[in-house]
Amino acid sequence: MNQARYSLELVRDVARRRTFAIISHPDAGKTTLTEKLLLYGGAIQMAGTVKARKSSRHATSDWMEVEKQRGISVTSSVMQFDYADHTINLLDTPGHQDFSEDTYRVLTAVDAAVMVIDAAKGVEEQTIKLLDVCRLRATPIITFVNKMDREVREPLALLEEIESVLRIDCAPISWPIGMGKRFRGVFDLRHDRLLRFTAGEERIGDPEDSELIEGLSNPRLDLLFPDEVAALRHDVDLIRHASTPFDLREFLAGRQSPVFFGSGINNFGVQEILQALIEWAPPPLPRDAGTRIVQPAEAQFTGFVFKIQANMDPKHRDRIAFFRVCSGRYRPAMKVEHQRIGREMKLGNVMTFMANERVASQDAVAGDIIGIHNHGLLQIGDTLSEGEALSFKGIPYFAPELFRIARPRDPFKAKQLQKGLQELGEEGAIQVFERVHGNTLLLGAVGQLQFEVVADRLAREYKVDAIYDTAAISTARWLTYPDEATRRNFEKEHTASLATDVDGNPVYLATNKYNLQVTMERWTKVGFHTTREHGQRLEHA
Ligand code: G4P
Repeated sequence: MNQARYSLELVRDVARRRTFAIISHPDAGKTTLTEKLLLYGGAIQMAGTVKARKSSRHATSDWMEVEKQRGISVTSSVMQFDYADHTINLLDTPGHQDFSEDTYRVLTAVDAAVMVIDAAKGVEEQTIKLLDVCRLRATPIITFVNKMDREVREPLALLEEIESVLRIDCAPISWPIGMGKRFRGVFDLRHDRLLRFTAGEERIGDPEDSELIEGLSNPRLDLLFPDEVAALRHDVDLIRHASTPFDLREFLAGRQSPVFFGSGINNFGVQEILQALIEWAPPPLPRDAGTRIVQPAEAQFTGFVFKIQANMDPKHRDRIAFFRVCSGRYRPAMKVEHQRIGREMKLGNVMTFMANERVASQDAVAGDIIGIHNHGLLQIGDTLSEGEALSFKGIPYFAPELFRIARPRDPFKAKQLQKGLQELGEEGAIQVFERVHGNTLLLGAVGQLQFEVVADRLAREYKVDAIYDTAAISTARWLTYPDEATRRNFEKEHTASLATDVDGNPVYLATNKYNLQVTMERWTKVGFHTTREHGQRLEHA
């Protein structure tokens, strides 16, 4: 075992990495913020590049037909760029109708997240779901309250809502002065200065572009904002005394979020987010690999697959596995052990994803994401390492919220349907359950688009035309029992609600939340789980 070998160069390269995702409800401004971040990183030269891609991604991508028809990205992508001597990996979490399990899984591969809140709308549904997933790994969250150039809600009320709905402490780092047409800027509470707001979508955001006014008692404030200056001093004074001070340890533990106010579209407050990522967000963290914790600067190359992208040529069943490096250094054509199947694999044809192109990877260290071409050999959750038997944890399945019953239009195609669903299930495109009662195949997803992707791929790759009936189920829970007797009793009483997943684990299907709650209250000793690890068989205590 060579985990004791560290090289200074590797330690330094790892320390320079920041790997994060932006989480938000659709329309809060994720795409806009992504674009401005990439502009700072010099990864794109023109505003509008990412937005143009959002509306016509099909023009440049070779992804699936479904995506082409709907003009959306089926799965999320990765953008790497450099900023202030750091290498930043920004992982996109699809947010619109293309919300899927991938959205969740991407969050297992990051070390931090930026949460964008629309200041007019406050905390919205999808943000709540995504934050719950971040909480599984206590991911540190930086909050960006966006669209301050609009008529929005009171900043204090917004913070209160974030704290109560998302159950995370807020530490304001900046405080907005006015809003909408009277948005004057933000007061930087740490450095005691006002960053004056100037509108302008195309600003690249040179710090000199925005005027900085040092000190709350600066007479320039009286000159510039005669009507607002008294309120400004009062607000800043109040917030300084009343709000939680920023505490790095609390942030790193995922309990407290530093909050920034700004306007993404005007490139205002964006650089502060980048700065916070570099200063406060953690470099790649140690990861639990089952038998031990793997340190990011260990010499031995390790990592795991968190997402599979089907490549488009149906004749080749070619796949790209998105792989998070957890330690060591990737070298072209290196040999690694595929732990699940116990086989050696040569890593040729590996890609790094830059902001607007893919390039052949030459070098990747912990925190970086590489794309490995393969033909179905890799599944979500798979660990690759240089020899040592490891298995990274924390890449779960999430309880689906949408269900369909699949049956082939031609009854003679039942075998193909089963095979196709089995393989797509293993790949992570959809979850497949077999009901105990009636033997029907039930598909579970967290986003509607997952069904469309699966229907499309079944037709194309497996030549099965299937019918997808809606199922009167609203959610599922994985079950664990304290003993055999409880299992038998529970199963006897709930046969109609039971199913097994692809790995044979028992699952409870609930018709609605109330039904689930009642059952959970009656069977307090039975475990009802919202997530399950890939490839893991649940232990029955
Ligand atoms: P998303 O990826 O989270 O879905 O959001 P996106 O960035 O696409 O932004 C959603 C809408 O909000 C866009 O308007 C965008 O221009 C606008 N927006 C983003 N940041 C700000 C901001 O700071 N202030 C204001 N006033 N608007 C902002 P749209 O009309 O839907 O699209 P478009 O026509 O502008 O492209």
